[in-house]
Amino acid sequence: MTITFRSETFRDDFTFRNSLYNIKRFPFPFDRDEYMYSVNMEPHIRGKADSVFENLIDVDEHYVAEMQDRALVLKEDPLRCQALPHMMTAQWDVLELLMEHQAQDYPEHFTLEKNGDRWRWVNRPMGIDDTFTFGDAATLPYPPMEYITRQAQGDFCIVDQRDNNLWMDAGMVTTQADWSLDFDIGMNFMEWHGPVPLAHQIGVFDRALKFLLNLQQGKPTRRLNWTMTVNPRLDTSPENYHKWGPDRTTVTPENVGDKMHLRVELQSLWRLPRSNAILFVIRCYLISLSELVTVPKWGRRLPRVLKSLPPEIADYKGLTRNRPIMIDWLAKYDDGAPTSAGI
Ligand code: HEM
Repeated sequence: MTITFRSETFRDDFTFRNSLYNIKRFPFPFDRDEYMYSVNMEPHIRGKADSVFENLIDVDEHYVAEMQDRALVLKEDPLRCQALPHMMTAQWDVLELLMEHQAQDYPEHFTLEKNGDRWRWVNRPMGIDDTFTFGDAATLPYPPMEYITRQAQGDFCIVDQRDNNLWMDAGMVTTQADWSLDFDIGMNFMEWHGPVPLAHQIGVFDRALKFLLNLQQGKPTRRLNWTMTVNPRLDTSPENYHKWGPDRTTVTPENVGDKMHLRVELQSLWRLPRSNAILFVIRCYLISLSELVTVPKWGRRLPRVLKSLPPEIADYKGLTRNRPIMIDWLAKYDDGAPTSAGI
């Protein structure tokens, strides 16, 4: 499928918008009127055509603009991309995985030619045509993980598996919901999840870790996570909190529909073949409330979810201040009809 890439920004004048096609394929995350943390994992297999699950590595109309935003973040702060020295084999695993999926599913836009270890990679939307030796980092302009994740939507963590735990030992993280790779690098699964409320007590992380330690190659898994962001800003990092934190005070009943965005992360986890590490892909989708309510069942459900959200979770996601404004604005889209289970 040929994608028409939008020219848009995720900062300053915030010209990001979704086309009608992209609104329809937005991964609305709520399958009921309440939300609570759970081990909501399912096999990462291909889904319906024209959905974000059609391809396992999804490329959409925001691709080029997101890659431009990533380049700006890295220019200001190179520590958003880090890899500990023992992760080089895993870096090559990631390069291979992303190149193969993008080339297989979007042949109009990407081509991968392999001639033994000599590989040619063509990325037409970004005007890249490079030939390199797989396994020899000196033949690429960046280390392998940085090279390919400058050309792939979403944030990426590579976690190493040892001592019955997972360790965040590499990553490219420029579009995160208020956490920092530079802070978390070298931490284990329980440590980096330390700030999350309620989930530890109900055993979510014990079960999730057990599941992931047994993840098999060729059987990726996925889950959805969500939060909300004022303005369509990708880089809501602690490092730049001074830039986006104050935005929370700018939301009013008049502008909430356009300013407040639901931010959904389609997270997929892949066992890597050579290194036995796990790649954690955090693919972020943004939609303004005004765009979201064009789908009536979403407009009906979101105010119910927001109303019933436990205060600890609302606080953690930074929603406490603007929750009443959103609920009031969304109320007119809830006609009181029962919503069926499922999305
Ligand atoms: C939040 C990383 C897998 C559940 C987070 C945070 C990070 C993270 C960095 C932010 C913590 C903070 O506030 O500083 C990862 C990585 C994973 C992984 C690298 C894979 C290796 C999972 C899995 C689950 C899970 C399998 C399944 C239950 C959560 C939840 C939150 C969270 C519920 C809170 C999110 C929110 O409310 O917005 N994760 N995670 N994570 N993670 Fe994970």
